[in-house]
Amino acid sequence: MNIMESGQILGARVEGLDLSQPLTDAQFEQLEQALGRYGVLSYPKQTLTSLQLKQFAQRFGRLEINVANMYQEPGLPEVMILSNKIGPDGKPLGLSDAGQDWHTDMSYSKMVAFSNILYGLEIPHRDGEPLGNTEFANMHAAYDDLPEALKQRLEGMTITHDFAKFWDMMRAKEGSTRPPLTAAQRQAKPPVSHPVILRHPITGKKVLYANPGYSMRINEMSEAESDETLAFLFEHQLQAKYQYKHRWQVGDVLMWDNLGTLHNAVPDYRPDEPRYIKRCQVMANRYFANETV
Ligand code: OGA
Ligand code: MN
Repeated sequence: MNIMESGQILGARVEGLDLSQPLTDAQFEQLEQALGRYGVLSYPKQTLTSLQLKQFAQRFGRLEINVANMYQEPGLPEVMILSNKIGPDGKPLGLSDAGQDWHTDMSYSKMVAFSNILYGLEIPHRDGEPLGNTEFANMHAAYDDLPEALKQRLEGMTITHDFAKFWDMMRAKEGSTRPPLTAAQRQAKPPVSHPVILRHPITGKKVLYANPGYSMRINEMSEAESDETLAFLFEHQLQAKYQYKHRWQVGDVLMWDNLGTLHNAVPDYRPDEPRYIKRCQVMANRYFANETV
C-alpha cells in the first residue's frame, strides 16, 4: 500500500489496498499510525459488501450499535445507513441529517468513539463538483496553539458533554424532521464528563477534546468563566487554518480519528440529489479499557 499525505493540515490517501481482504498485522499497524498522524484517511475505489466493511472496521475496535435501532443494514446492526433517499414505501432509507454541524462523534458517551468509517456508494455532484463534503479540524494543532496560561488552567479540568445539545440544535433548524427527545431518551443518555485535554493514544501528544456539538460546561469553572472559555475554545478550534475538507467520490472509504479531529457534514445538496453512505462507528475500547460503556 501507498500512503500519500495531502500536504494539508489533515488527510492522507491510502492507495493499493483492497479493504475487502483481511489486513495483515503489519498493515493494521501502519494504518493505525497513519490515522493518528493524518487524522483522516481515504481509501479510493473500494468495492465492499456490508459484511466486508464491518470486518475491516472491527479490526480497530468494538463497533457501536446505534440505540435508535433505525437505518441498520438487515442482519448487520453495526452497519448504519446515512442517506437522504426515500424508499418505495415513502420511508427514509437512512439517517438524513447526520453530523450537520461541528462535533466529534460520541463525546457524550462514557466510552467515546475512536474512529468513524464511512463508505460512499452514491455521492451527489453538480457541475462536476462533489456535494456533501465532510469537513475536519485538527485538534492536535488547536491544542498546540492555545495560549500557555490557558493550557495550564485547563490541565486536569473536565467538560460535561450532552447528547441532547446537538439533537436540540439540529431540531431547531428549519425543515428538521427530528422529533423532540422523550424524557426516557434523555434519561438513557445522561451527560458525561471527559478531560478537556486528552493524551492521544496513538500519537502520545495532547489534543483539545472539546466540541461545539456536545460540550456544555467546564466543570471546575464558575458558569460565567466556563461559558466564556468554551466560547473562546469553539472559535479557536474552528479557525480555517486547522480545517481540511474531504471531497467525496463514489467508492471512497473515509475513516477519521474522533479523538484528534472535529468534523462537519456540509448539507449543500437537495432532496433530489441522492447521497447514500454506509458507516461503522468504532469505539475507543482498545485505548480506554478501564472505562465502561
Ligand atoms: C457521522 C457524520 C458525516 C457525513 O456519521 O457521524 O458526522 O459527511 N457524518 O456524513
Ligand atoms: Mn459525526
